[in-house]
Amino acid sequence: MSKTNKNTKFSTKTIHVGNKIDETGAAVTPLHLTSTFRQPSFSSTEKFVYSRTGGPTIDALEENFAMLEDAKYSFAFASGMAAMSAIFLMFKPGDHVLISKNVYGGVFRLVTKVLNDNGVEFDFIDTTDLKVVKKSVKKNTKLIHVETPSNPLLELADISSISKICKTNKVLLSVDNTFMSPYGQKPLNLGADIVMHSTTKYIGGHSDILSGALMVNDKKSAEKITLIQNTAGALPSPFDAWLLLRSVKTLSLRVEKHFSNAVKIANWLKNQKKVSRVIYPGLKNHPQHKIAKKQQRTPNGKIVFGGIISFELDKSININKFSKKLNFITLAESLGGVKTLISCPYSMTHASVPKKDKEDLGITENLLRLSVGIENVDDLISELDLAINH
Ligand SMILES: Cc1ncc(COP(=O)(O)O)c(C=O)c1O
Repeated sequence: MSKTNKNTKFSTKTIHVGNKIDETGAAVTPLHLTSTFRQPSFSSTEKFVYSRTGGPTIDALEENFAMLEDAKYSFAFASGMAAMSAIFLMFKPGDHVLISKNVYGGVFRLVTKVLNDNGVEFDFIDTTDLKVVKKSVKKNTKLIHVETPSNPLLELADISSISKICKTNKVLLSVDNTFMSPYGQKPLNLGADIVMHSTTKYIGGHSDILSGALMVNDKKSAEKITLIQNTAGALPSPFDAWLLLRSVKTLSLRVEKHFSNAVKIANWLKNQKKVSRVIYPGLKNHPQHKIAKKQQRTPNGKIVFGGIISFELDKSININKFSKKLNFITLAESLGGVKTLISCPYSMTHASVPKKDKEDLGITENLLRLSVGIENVDDLISELDLAINH
């Protein structure tokens, strides 16, 4: 395998880390589609035994994942939600967990419909407000979980300041870094203990894989997650792991383009009369614009604002009629792929959140979430112009 050192740049590492060359000389990590591994004796303790526990393709991927977040340990999962579930399974009855109130709807559903009777106490709080975070910590609080930027309102939590509150109170901090990707934000370096990704999004990048990841530095947390990952059967298939290893090689290039296209589209949207609200951390009117500038950085220090824009259409526009005029922009859930997707969080990703809670959060029926792809930005803007203004 090619050797990297502390001076090797991120985009080079995405291509080379985990890309092991075996005895065949294949230049790309081979795909091992096997559920089990031959053992030399009945009492042997080989590295690979059974594919639910691990295998060479997953191993290569986890080596690459750890590098992405500058972590000591990383874990691949079959979905972002499997990774999220593994975080919550680390805690026991009587423990208390705080979560950003504006999280992905699936996390809300996991907590309120699946884990609600398991004895761990969960509270949803406004993690954009440090005073609220500080005062919500209780004696039995064991974890603060933040999503930043959050889905779909793009609220930001100040990772380094929350990490200080966590350290003072001996509480773990986990960060869902799905929206920025490791190219745009490094939560462990800002003081977080656990990073979570729905790698279905930017890391997979082509809307063709479902998967997730956790990255940590602490050995004790790593041991707990290893046990959960193996026992709960949460690993992705070797084929998906192999596709992820391919995808990650172009992460820097893709994300750079997603982000620069999004800046142009957000600035265009903000000048449209029939668009009543544009939420994008890169706009000066975003309430946490300063926090974005502080913590959202590429590996070479450039400030970045992400590839997702939420915007509200004027009530005079029927969103279904609007969507029928779109061509390249596809009406679909998910985000972070090369192809631009648009969704309505109210009726799609956040359908499981009660109407009143959605209204309180500001998730209205006319709010749309645009996952900006890497098409030519002029094509995307002319399509939006046609759908909004004609
Ligand atoms: C921020 C965020 N976290 C977690 C998830 C869940 O990931 P997955 O769909 O891969 O299970 C999603 C899915 O949209 C998400 O947007």
